[in-house]
Amino acid sequence: ETGKFTYDPGFTSTASCDSALTYIDGDEGVLLHRGYPIGQLAEHSSFMEVSYLLLNGELPSADELAQFSRTITRHTMVHEQLSVFYRGFRRDAHPMAIMCGVVGALSAFYHDSTDISDPEQRKISAHRLIAKMPTIAAMAYKYSVGQPFVYPRNDLSYTGNFLRMTFAVPAEEYEVNPIVERALDRIFILHADHEQNASTSTVRLAGSSGANPFACIAAGIACLWGPAHGGANEAALNMLKEIGTPDRIPHYIARAKDKNDPFRLMGFGHRVYKNYDPRATVMQQTVREVFASLKVTDPLFETALQLEEIALNDPYFIDKKLFPNVDFYSGIILSAIGFPTAMFTALFALARTVGWVAQWNEMISDPGQKIGRPRQLYTGPAQRDYVPVDKR
Ligand code: SDX
Repeated sequence: ETGKFTYDPGFTSTASCDSALTYIDGDEGVLLHRGYPIGQLAEHSSFMEVSYLLLNGELPSADELAQFSRTITRHTMVHEQLSVFYRGFRRDAHPMAIMCGVVGALSAFYHDSTDISDPEQRKISAHRLIAKMPTIAAMAYKYSVGQPFVYPRNDLSYTGNFLRMTFAVPAEEYEVNPIVERALDRIFILHADHEQNASTSTVRLAGSSGANPFACIAAGIACLWGPAHGGANEAALNMLKEIGTPDRIPHYIARAKDKNDPFRLMGFGHRVYKNYDPRATVMQQTVREVFASLKVTDPLFETALQLEEIALNDPYFIDKKLFPNVDFYSGIILSAIGFPTAMFTALFALARTVGWVAQWNEMISDPGQKIGRPRQLYTGPAQRDYVPVDKR
């Protein structure tokens, strides 16, 4: 609840806000969206249905879900001028650099969205952002590989549309693989929202000034990019590639324990979870299902499983309460589906957009909300008089 609490560094801080969207119990490894456990949503729901739940507070009826999906689908196309922005980037630009720029640029296309006092306008902006993120992310990938942009289609699911925009080429028909579509949709569910994490707090702080939602989401994308946050999925797979075979794990475990070595186990640890990240459990299960269904294997999955096993039984990691988080296994699946590592965080941003816009809208809808203004503990010099340069 909103109020005073103290944590490790021994100074008090106030909870940043009230929110009814997501509940996390870090000690028990519990994650609920509007009261529904993440494991049940991942198993039985869809990303569109979870998006409706986060935005509206209740699970939709079949008609409500169909209507919501149709509304989102009809916003998936981007203004043709927006594609010109891509040509200003080098082909090897990081997709997150492109996402920051292009999503912020959406502010220039929807002047009506700057009127954030109008609930209807806020709803349309939320739908536009949720709908256009897959198109923008797919275009970033196509631009990086020098292939033509693929327009969205209205006859495909949200996730199926994204797969087709990413991997289809004009030279041949593209069939969405239902196993891949289901796995990626579940990965989007696992990334949809996560309480007041760094990027969501960035979106809320930017939104508290009255900035338009596209600019706020661009700020969230910038924050998510960091390797300590959403950038960890890319860093975790790069770490597994560097470790390579299981026999090299002890060397990296030793490095992670060495206080003089900046190396950390990417995909391990969390600011809140001091028990297992429930999303990591589902993610590991999804790797097994996808590999079994697609009849593929990846030696890095075996390395990841052994790294987890060793770390979970190592007194150092047990003492520090370090467990795999959502980013530890996600890269293995995304890589198996065909995404390059550089796209991993862009996919995290795609999925987290519904959480960001739902949190932003919850804040803006609160009539009592004020501009955010964190304070500090001042550690600089006491007041003193100016010294002319010839006296210094
Ligand atoms: C996400 O907040 C969210 O909800 C984020 C997120 C979301 O959905 O929005 O869940 C997504 O960002 C998940 C986290 C992804 N990041 C990584 O996997 C990067 C690797 N992990 C870390 O860098 C780290 O664990 C953090 C940043 C996640 C948390 O860092 P903290 O706050 O330092 O962690 P802590 O206070 O719990 O650390 C306790 C101790 C520290 O050592 P001491 O100072 O006590 O000696 O454990 C050490 C840390 O140095 N430690 C690690 C470690 N993580 C923490 N040591 C080795 N490897 C690690 N991964």
